[in-house]
Amino acid sequence: MIKWSHERSQAFQETLLDWYDQNKRDLPWRRDHNPYHVWVSEIMLQQTQVQTVIPYYLRFMDQFPTVEDLATATEDKLMKAWEGLGYYSRARNLQKAARQIVFDYQGRWPTTTEALQELSGIGPYTAGAIASIAFGQPVAAVDGNAFRVFSRLLEIDDDIAKPQTRKVFERIINLIIPKARPGDFNQAIMDLGASYMTATNYDTSQSPVKDFNQSYQDGIEDHYPVKTKKKRPIAHDYFGLIIHSKQGYLFEKRPSHGILANFWMFPLFDRENLTDEKATPESMLVGKIEARLQSEYQLSADLHAVDVPTVTHTFTHQKWKIKLLEAQVADNIDVSYFPGKWIHSSKFDQMTFSKVQSKLWLAYQKASKSTQSVGD
Ligand code: ADE
Repeated sequence: MIKWSHERSQAFQETLLDWYDQNKRDLPWRRDHNPYHVWVSEIMLQQTQVQTVIPYYLRFMDQFPTVEDLATATEDKLMKAWEGLGYYSRARNLQKAARQIVFDYQGRWPTTTEALQELSGIGPYTAGAIASIAFGQPVAAVDGNAFRVFSRLLEIDDDIAKPQTRKVFERIINLIIPKARPGDFNQAIMDLGASYMTATNYDTSQSPVKDFNQSYQDGIEDHYPVKTKKKRPIAHDYFGLIIHSKQGYLFEKRPSHGILANFWMFPLFDRENLTDEKATPESMLVGKIEARLQSEYQLSADLHAVDVPTVTHTFTHQKWKIKLLEAQVADNIDVSYFPGKWIHSSKFDQMTFSKVQSKLWLAYQKASKSTQSVGD
């Protein structure tokens, strides 16, 4: 790792901020320094691309213009506003934190990174972003962009997959960040990380800070950031059941803990729980599901495969593959033993569905679009 003198750091600040002043992205949360605006945008941006976030952010601010509106919103309305963004715990934490601010702190925002991290869902990165952008504190906001940019500029060899590495970067950036414009500095690093210094863009010859980029000068930019491989997500193979009657589609409520807690979904059967034999033919597995439905829920259903490719969805630690099966059942069938209910498709747009559920429905609609729609 190389170190910069005070003069070098100052020259870097000037170059970076001049470039930012000319080229910064015009983003709706950059129009003021309101901590509520900064905070909501940062939470949305945690796992989601800027272009995706923009319309969500604008709608969110229309519906919940102040932290008080968010604190008192119904869960339904909040989830509806978040629908499609994924990682729903972000929305729940957002509301918890809004309630902390409104009810515990009487509407007064904490302004230091330590105090901000007392709020639900706010970690070191988000605390740094809010403290610097909204409150002008000269503190780092270390996300993937900062890791990428500074590891390349200074040839920092620490492994960014290790949790303790964040502190190394924070210490280095806290020495470089200007006291006068810390929020702009951090956001300039984000813009640099999204343009001239992306994960795959090593052609830094046009970069405004190429003279400060040691790894570029040395021709080893592709060595940075140093990152050991993550564990692969665990694979789950499911059958997804589309059971319909005149009453609608049969939905199951997911357990109150774990992935997609409390969401309404088409019932899923884990292939692993059906048999230990890897090579069991699919027709036998379908038979086993029918037998389970009968014995556990007294449901008679004649399942057959839906003619669509397997639906896939990747969560942070899991990868799901779902094969769709469907059955039309008698209109007066008793589902009182089943942990779910009928939902008519005309009610779907009032529901908050997870992304996976939306994918299942879309896939099913594709398959059945030539035939008459069922459950209507
Ligand atoms: N990514 C995370 N925070 C951001 C911000 N404030 N501007 C642009 N991209 C971001």
